Amino acid sequence: MNLQLGDVQTTALIPLAVKASESRRKNPRVIDKKAVEIVEAIGIDISKYDKFMSHEGVIARTIMLDRQLKEIIIKTPETVVINLGAGFDDRFSRVDNGKILWFDLDLPDVITARKKAFPEKERVTIIAGDILDPSWCKPVQEALSERKTKPIFLAEGLFMYLTMEQIRTFLNVLKENFPCGGTLIAEQNNKLMVKNEKFHDTVKNTNAHFVSGTDSGQEIADLVKGFRLVEEHSFNEEMKKHSIRGKLFALLLPKMNDRWATFEW
Ligand SMILES: C[S@@+](CC[C@H](N)C(=O)[O-])C[C@H]1O[C@@H](n2cnc3c(N)ncnc32)[C@H](O)[C@@H]1O
Repeated sequence: MNLQLGDVQTTALIPLAVKASESRRKNPRVIDKKAVEIVEAIGIDISKYDKFMSHEGVIARTIMLDRQLKEIIIKTPETVVINLGAGFDDRFSRVDNGKILWFDLDLPDVITARKKAFPEKERVTIIAGDILDPSWCKPVQEALSERKTKPIFLAEGLFMYLTMEQIRTFLNVLKENFPCGGTLIAEQNNKLMVKNEKFHDTVKNTNAHFVSGTDSGQEIADLVKGFRLVEEHSFNEEMKKHSIRGKLFALLLPKMNDRWATFEW
């Protein structure tokens, strides 16, 4: 597979590389066969995208979000999930209960590549679009009108590549196009990491830049009236269970790691 991706789009190769390499381990904590298949098909050297801290961070966030989403799906089996900035993520396969509806949304060049790797699936819609441009909302609104459930939006590895003003625009897209309300689960980068991006072990190997960060998800909720922060969890909560370095990182630099923040409107 020949890949031609823009700067921010290239960051999708980081979680892809991590999940492929983890899946090849003897006792994988996350199994993503699709990631292994794609990495083999594109034939790239994944070593620059698969460094220790990024690896442990992606594995921690994957375990945490899979768990949170499975709990939501058990409570609401007909859930509609929109995976924003989906990259090459295959979370649908890990959480599917045979009933949910799923949307994978990303910028056009990523979607062109994604469509080569992911066969069409029942209940999954792939959309090429920019999250800031509301034209992607229509198919989701149609699905929701049949389901009568509130949508769940996921933003994994996305907000740090948007300015706070762009995040505000995006929250307004959600509020205006989904007036019924919904849940947004968004990864939060911290402000220190924005200043120190040259030390990030894998993003420094791309041309992408962190352009925003928060010390608390409340800063995101405050951007648009009607949004509230429900809960927030550092990746440290999971990462410290898996290695001494993860434990030390959580102890010495507790605020440095990313967090999962859940919002409702
Ligand atoms: C770090 S990757 C994360 C991919 C995926 N969520 C994962 O964890 O495997 C960030 C993704 O966000 C996408 N992205 C960035 N800005 C976007 C925008 N404005 N609209 C849609 N997707 C965007 C990129 O193209 C890229 O695929």
